Amino acid sequence: MIITGSIEKARMISCKRAKLGKAVGFIPTMGALHKGHLSLVKKARKECDFLMVSIFINPTQFGSKGGYKGYPRSLAKDKKQLKEEGVDLLFLPKESTMYPLGKERASVCVCENNLSKTLCGESRPGHFKGVCTILTKLFNILRPNIAYFGQKDYQQALIVKKLVKDLNFSTKIRVLPIIREEDNLAMSSRNIYLKGLARKSSRCLYQALELAKKLIKSRERDPKRVINQMKQLVKSGELAKIDYIEIVDASSLKKLKWIKGKVLIVLAVYIKKVRLIDNIILNVKK
Ligand code: PAJ
Repeated sequence: MIITGSIEKARMISCKRAKLGKAVGFIPTMGALHKGHLSLVKKARKECDFLMVSIFINPTQFGSKGGYKGYPRSLAKDKKQLKEEGVDLLFLPKESTMYPLGKERASVCVCENNLSKTLCGESRPGHFKGVCTILTKLFNILRPNIAYFGQKDYQQALIVKKLVKDLNFSTKIRVLPIIREEDNLAMSSRNIYLKGLARKSSRCLYQALELAKKLIKSRERDPKRVINQMKQLVKSGELAKIDYIEIVDASSLKKLKWIKGKVLIVLAVYIKKVRLIDNIILNVKK
């Protein structure tokens, strides 16, 4: 596995492979890798001739209290795992390489102005601007044919699809399923902060999604009533504080008045200070 922090070297290597007609795949990450990340790596390894992963804890997507400093880091373990999975290139840039003027002083940023306004975008102002800016830079440096994202961050994946479409990147975006712990908690780098009761309480996210699924299956179509029941379930758990619980159209992320079509049931919940997100997509016929 080639490891480099140099933009020029990474771009040169990637472009060389693409010129040879190889399918070049890319998985952007912030490290602290777990089985969720590795599921993307495994799938991409099967589909691509040359596979690149980046690890960069992007400061511009964290708010002032957003946990940049405390973000988990496990670089040695990450490198080992990526090597074992057969990754070809690990791009590991420094903050000063990606933001040479400093993270607050870049004069050009990339904003998505529609899908970013709701859900996580509403709770974390500026978050998706940071995500779109760093991904534009990474796509431009590495020029992948295919980039892989997880449904765990459904809104992010939808925004990235819009980003590549509107800015005419030739990169295809693949979105892969959520990988879960045995008790169905969605895997996340932040889960290591959940211990004892907090870890147990975190089950309420998936339980709320299951409840919504059950209610919709039994023909409940009023989103307000479903959301209320989900809120009650989450509130009844210890340590949980709701950020948002919504039922939205899976393409536009607009709130629904009536549950029908492809719907996204999505929630963000704080367990103590750890912010967790989860979602399911349902196809509701009638
Ligand atoms: P990070 O949180 O490291 O996630 C990298 C990728 O792994 C994302 O596409 C995310 O959706 C996916 N992922 C995380 N947990 C998953 C799970 N349990 N199952 C399946 N996929 C999962 O998302 C980011 O980094 C950053 O915003 C980034 C895109 C790298 C831009 O900085």
